[in-house]
Amino acid sequence: MSAFEHTPVLLEEVLEQLDPTAGGVYGDVTLGGGGHAKAILERSSPDGRLIGTDRDSSALEAAGAALSGFGERATLRKARISELVAVLASLQIDKLDGVLADLGVSSVHLDRAERGFSFAKDGPIDMRMDRTEGETALDLIGRSDPEELANLIYRYGEEHRSRKIARSLRRAYEEGELRTTGDLRHAVHRAVGGRRGRVDPATKTFQALRIAVNDELGELQALLEQAPHALRLGGVVAVISFHSLEDRMVKHAFRDSEQLSPLTKRPIVASERERADNPRSRSAKLRAARRVEVAA
Ligand SMILES: C[S@@+](CC[C@H](N)C(=O)[O-])C[C@H]1O[C@@H](n2cnc3c(N)ncnc32)[C@H](O)[C@@H]1O
Repeated sequence: MSAFEHTPVLLEEVLEQLDPTAGGVYGDVTLGGGGHAKAILERSSPDGRLIGTDRDSSALEAAGAALSGFGERATLRKARISELVAVLASLQIDKLDGVLADLGVSSVHLDRAERGFSFAKDGPIDMRMDRTEGETALDLIGRSDPEELANLIYRYGEEHRSRKIARSLRRAYEEGELRTTGDLRHAVHRAVGGRRGRVDPATKTFQALRIAVNDELGELQALLEQAPHALRLGGVVAVISFHSLEDRMVKHAFRDSEQLSPLTKRPIVASERERADNPRSRSAKLRAARRVEVAA
C-alpha cells in the first residue's frame, strides 16, 4: 500500500453515471489519491483525457504518481473546486464530458496525525486541506466568541449540545489547555460526557470545525453553480457527499437548475458489501445530473 492509499467509494456507480468513453474529456476536482481518476482514464482508453485538481499539494503528488502511466492524458493542477471554470479556461478547454467531485477528506488526511483531522491520532488542531493558506481550526476557536462558535458547531455539525461544547472549547483555549486534537476531544467530552456508543461525541464538533476551516459548503455551492457551464450538452456531473448538509445542497442544485436534469431521483448509496469492506462508504451519497438544453 502506498502512503496515500485511499479506496475510492462507489467506484462502479460513479463510472456508470459518468460513462467515460474514448475521446472524452473528464474532470476530477477532488483527485485525492487518484483512485477514481485512474478508473476514468482506464475506461476512456485509449485517448480520453482527465483534468484533475485538488487543493492539497500532497494529494496532487500522490495522484501524480498513481496516474504517471497515463502520460499526457492526465493534466493535474492545484486548485479548489470553486475554481473549476478558471482552471478549464487556463487550459483552453471549452467543455467537459463529465465531472466528478468526491467531497470531504481522504483517509490519508485522517491517517496523518500532523494534519489534525482525527481525534484517533493526536496532532495539532489544524484541519486545513491546503496547508499553505487560511486559518487553522485552533485559530478559528481562538478568535471566535462562544456564541459564534456554538452557531458554527450547531450548523455544520448538526450538534444540539453546541452551546455547552463551545463554552468548554473556549475555556480550554483560554486556560492554554487546547493544543492537540486529543485536547479538543477531551474538551468536548468534558462538556457532554465521554464515549458510550459506537460514535465518539466529539465527531460532530470535529466535522463542524473542518467544514468551517475549509469553507466546504461555500466551495460546494460554487462548484454546483459552475458545473453546468463546464459541461457540454449531455455531459454529466457526479457528486459524492458525506453528510446531509452537502447532500441537500446537491439535491436542490440539481433539481433547481434549468440546465441540469437529475439522473438519480434518490442518492445512490454503497452496497452491503462495500459498506462492510470500507467503513468510509457508509455515509457516502452519490447524485448525478445531465447537462441539458434550456427550454425556450
Ligand atoms: C475523498 S478525497 C478524494 C479521493 C479520490 N476520489 C480518490 O479516489 O482517491 C477528497 C479530496 O478532495 C480534496 N478537496 C476537498 N475539498 C476540496 C476543495 N474545495 N477544493 C479542492 N480539493 C478539495 C481533498 O483535499 C481530498 O484530497
